[in-house]
Amino acid sequence: MVAKNETPRAVSVVILKGGVGKSTISMNLARQLTERGRVLFADLDPNGHATNGLGFDEAYRGETNLGDVVLDQGDATVADLIHETEFDFDLLPSSDTLEDVEKDLAGALQGSARVKTKIVDPLLGERYDYIVFDCPAYPGMLNNNALVATGNVLIPLEPGSSSIGGYKRTMERLIKPAQEYIDIDVLALVPNKLRERIDQRTEDRELLENLNTADATQGKVPNFARITSDEFDAIDDGEMRPPKPGVRYSAALSKSLKEHQPLLDYDPENEQLENFEELASIVSNGGVER
Ligand SMILES: Nc1ncnc2c1ncn2[C@@H]1O[C@H](COP(=O)(O)OP(=O)(O)O)[C@@H](O)[C@H]1O
Ligand SMILES: [Mg+2]
Repeated sequence: MVAKNETPRAVSVVILKGGVGKSTISMNLARQLTERGRVLFADLDPNGHATNGLGFDEAYRGETNLGDVVLDQGDATVADLIHETEFDFDLLPSSDTLEDVEKDLAGALQGSARVKTKIVDPLLGERYDYIVFDCPAYPGMLNNNALVATGNVLIPLEPGSSSIGGYKRTMERLIKPAQEYIDIDVLALVPNKLRERIDQRTEDRELLENLNTADATQGKVPNFARITSDEFDAIDDGEMRPPKPGVRYSAALSKSLKEHQPLLDYDPENEQLENFEELASIVSNGGVER
């Protein structure tokens, strides 16, 4: 199903900080990718917010769980873990046992590669064209497994210094150590919850100016949040109307999960959807294209 120029791809949505938008962005990205191919959304966060948000609380507390497959306990196969949703993607739910699974992975041979060998390798390019992982907010075996299994990450950020700190921790404690052993591509840095003016010294402005001007990050900013130095100058000189970059803070985005739905289903006309469409294109192309 995937178009000719697009290869199947798995991606992890990670940042070592809670509340930034990992679950919101990963789930809506998975939904948007269904317009390009067959999609599995995998919730690796023991808190199960995305799983429960989609209405799968029974699966979260269910008997069969990820540990059975990645730790070779019992007869369950990966197919037994997967649930169909109403939203065109399948779900590999989180489980209330994932914290124990994480401890057991730490003692298992090749414990960081289990999700890759038991889940992603057999499914990607076979049953699915895209697999999107929602990850925990702390470093550990589940995040390591997500990185090894996907080799691609999207990092959400929100305005404010604590999110910048979370980004730095993510790079120093998670991504750079893993990059000593495997290739990991940071496909994009995704600003989220933007709501302030950017023609004044707000936290939104600070985040966008940092990401858009530093050499290490500017090529990873999606077009919906791209503002060049010249454009910032033009905004400050009053020659350009300040744009409203995304992903914006939107009540519909937070309400949709309470209603157990991705935004595309909850509010099909919502203007934030075009941002998720660009994220889907970034994942299918393997990076930001200007
Ligand atoms: N762009 C947004 N606009 C409004 N609310 C948002 C947005 N992104 C996330 N939220 C809300 O912020 C909270 C944290 O988001 P979530 O995706 O659960 O973060 P994480 O998975 O990183 O902990 C949730 O209540 C979610 O609904
Ligand atoms: Mg989450």
